[in-house]
Amino acid sequence: MKPTAEEVLCQAVWAYWAVRQVGHPELRQSARQWIQEQPAVYAYVVRRLQAALKAARRSLQSAWAPYSGFPVGAALVALDGTLWRGCNVECSSYGLTLCAERGALSSAVVHHRRAFLALVLVSRAAAPIPPCGACRQVLYEFAPRLLVLSEAVHSSARQLWWLEQLLPEPFSRALLPR
Ligand code: THU
Repeated sequence: MKPTAEEVLCQAVWAYWAVRQVGHPELRQSARQWIQEQPAVYAYVVRRLQAALKAARRSLQSAWAPYSGFPVGAALVALDGTLWRGCNVECSSYGLTLCAERGALSSAVVHHRRAFLALVLVSRAAAPIPPCGACRQVLYEFAPRLLVLSEAVHSSARQLWWLEQLLPEPFSRALLPR
């Protein structure tokens, strides 16, 4: 059966991840083959991720992090290609701090976006940071198959994870009593 447009986009995101898996030549080879068959969709996804990186770097400039001195910028790529930005917002009552990821998610949801292809995260840490545990669970609510791309802006080092790698045993609505 012919895959839906949504499935093809998810396959392109998978190919983006797979070609970057050093040490897995068979995976990379099958991703390269997929890209040859769907070059336009792949190029589109790469362009959206590049735009999301720019958007996340811009969000980093808006972060309010006077207490930790640790600004974070985020951008979510919605299924329709739109980008939704967030930054961390700290508070003198420290526990009320909002993470960049949840800021981005709330901005997307208020604009009726509830399906996402990828999250881009940037910080000035020495190495790319993964989303915190609380954000993993909240992201799972809307995007269980999310690709997370994190960049350490100073070194340009990047890392990719699937949300399901970061949150292998999620709590989900399926576990709630009806
Ligand atoms: N922070 C985020 O915004 N996202 C994360 O996933 C990790 C932590 C923020 C919260 C706080 O403002 C600062 O980084 C230090 O923890």
